[in-house]
Amino acid sequence: MPLMIFRGIFVFKRIVYMKENKFEFTFEEYADSSELNEKDAWLLNEARLLTETAYAPYSNFFVGAAAMLANGEVVAGTNQENASYPVGICAERVLLGNAATLFPGIAIDTLAISYNSDSIKSDHPISPCGMCRQALLEYEGRIHKPIRLILGGMEGKVLVIQSAIQLLPFAFTSNELK
Ligand code: THU
Repeated sequence: MPLMIFRGIFVFKRIVYMKENKFEFTFEEYADSSELNEKDAWLLNEARLLTETAYAPYSNFFVGAAAMLANGEVVAGTNQENASYPVGICAERVLLGNAATLFPGIAIDTLAISYNSDSIKSDHPISPCGMCRQALLEYEGRIHKPIRLILGGMEGKVLVIQSAIQLLPFAFTSNELK
């Protein structure tokens, strides 16, 4: 190790072999849904309408999810809560279960997520919870196709993300089990 003289005192200079890495990803941001192309605006509107069929008497946070599949079919999901709170399930995972059951093996091209509430304004995007991120990337992995996400409230800013895996850096995947 090289020695350095610092104010008359010998100090050891630490040699650091650490490599600095970073995760980065690009996403699109729109001021509101009127800036989206027609197909995306339609799908986000479906998600907004679906909030009406959510069952969320405990949180009053009604989430709607609508997916456009590669075969042109549209699949829906809404959050379904339960008096035993942990039993409740998010809109995204309801949708994934529906898609896998009704159209096995068919990729999800785009998934739009919106929400509504009695008590808070729905004027900005929400993004899927951690558990849903894990479920979404498993779906991407099993069909080998990215799921494009459109995130927006009932009004206001909309985000478009190219793949669910971007939302879960260092994800645990099936590769670790092989
Ligand atoms: N929720 C979803 O359905 N999706 C999300 O992305 C975030 C949260 C639900 C779970 C629960 O029923 C309610 O919203 C409040 O957390």
